Amino acid sequence: MALINENYLRLSENYFYTEMDKRINAFCVTHPKANVIQLGTGDVSQPLPPAVVSAMTDALNELSQKDTFRGYGPGQGYKFLREKIVKDYQTHGVSLSTEEVFVSDGAKTDAANIGHIFGRDNIIAITDPVYPVYENATIMSGRAGYHNENGKWSNIVYLNCLAENGFKPVIPSEKIDVIYLCYPNNPTGTVLTRQELKVWVDYALENHSLIIYDGAYEAYITEKDVPHSIYEIKGAKKVAVEIRSFSKTAGFTGLRCSYTIVPKDLIAFTSEGEKVQLNRLWMRRQTTCFNGNSYIVQRGAEAVFSKEGRKQVNETVQYYLTNAGIIRDELRNLGFEVYGGVNSPYVWAKTKNGEESWSFFQRMLCEINVVSTPGVGFGPNGEGYTRFSGFNSRENTMEAVERMKNWR
Ligand code: MLT
Repeated sequence: MALINENYLRLSENYFYTEMDKRINAFCVTHPKANVIQLGTGDVSQPLPPAVVSAMTDALNELSQKDTFRGYGPGQGYKFLREKIVKDYQTHGVSLSTEEVFVSDGAKTDAANIGHIFGRDNIIAITDPVYPVYENATIMSGRAGYHNENGKWSNIVYLNCLAENGFKPVIPSEKIDVIYLCYPNNPTGTVLTRQELKVWVDYALENHSLIIYDGAYEAYITEKDVPHSIYEIKGAKKVAVEIRSFSKTAGFTGLRCSYTIVPKDLIAFTSEGEKVQLNRLWMRRQTTCFNGNSYIVQRGAEAVFSKEGRKQVNETVQYYLTNAGIIRDELRNLGFEVYGGVNSPYVWAKTKNGEESWSFFQRMLCEINVVSTPGVGFGPNGEGYTRFSGFNSRENTMEAVERMKNWR
């Protein structure tokens, strides 16, 4: 008799974004003429940078010739790409070796799968609100405990991020072993300064904890005092894994390419207290469970670091940031309390008169055909908030904002 992983039965029926899509699709089926504008999920709208397209075309041509054809690539990613990533870190004063870089097919993939190399008894901490993958993956792995009536899991430590603390987590009194941090933050669009991030690195160093630092939105940082990498903080290589993505910068949401840094200095412990290098474990995991991203995609990702690639990507990032700024300013004019949108493509807004997140979502969808993401989908503290993304086109963003102006 085949048995299932019963932890899956403890998850909600649908992944949050699937649930949202279901509701949007249901509306579109019953209102086929409605021109629905998506300021919801963080999917990008602008085409691939020309430098990426040209590199991928060349790579495809190579694969079509007998002499230059390639089959399986290295599980850790091609060295040509890992070298570019290492060089890119140097621009922020961070020195890494190519053996510390693991190319993958998505930040989401690695944020969820990294749990494979950790013991089941770790206490995991996540922020509330949070990108739902960290909590869902913790539930699937059987580390979450039981579900309380307050919507939280007994073995997860929730780091409250509220308006009164600027949506920034504070060190909890409970013991934590593994902490997920995402900055610039999805969903709130807020950031941690160098000093604020140092507090977490120091905590992890003192307590032998590990930080999984999701830096998928790093390219959106505009302010000086905000670190681009956790490794800019002294000692972080001993306590942090960092995940980055090409999705939101170079339009790879469909192509898929990301990378995770697992420094050689990073160690965790066996139950006997023996030190083990996590780089070794992740290498073993990846080369067993993953055959690497495609050659074509990795050549495309490499082109992101070329002179033209950087310029083109930077233009796209500025474009999305301008959209976020338009949304933020207009929401503010309309009397909403807003956060984010300065170092992030996301704008986090409090609904008016305590309206619940799903009610706001449904009303805005039905009345002006605009979609934002209900804050409660990111955790109980997100109730009464909604998230707008700057990833749509300028025209659609302007049109959505115009509709909001005339909406009551
Ligand atoms: C989001 O809308 O939060 C993102 O698109 C999620 C993701 O990158 O998986």
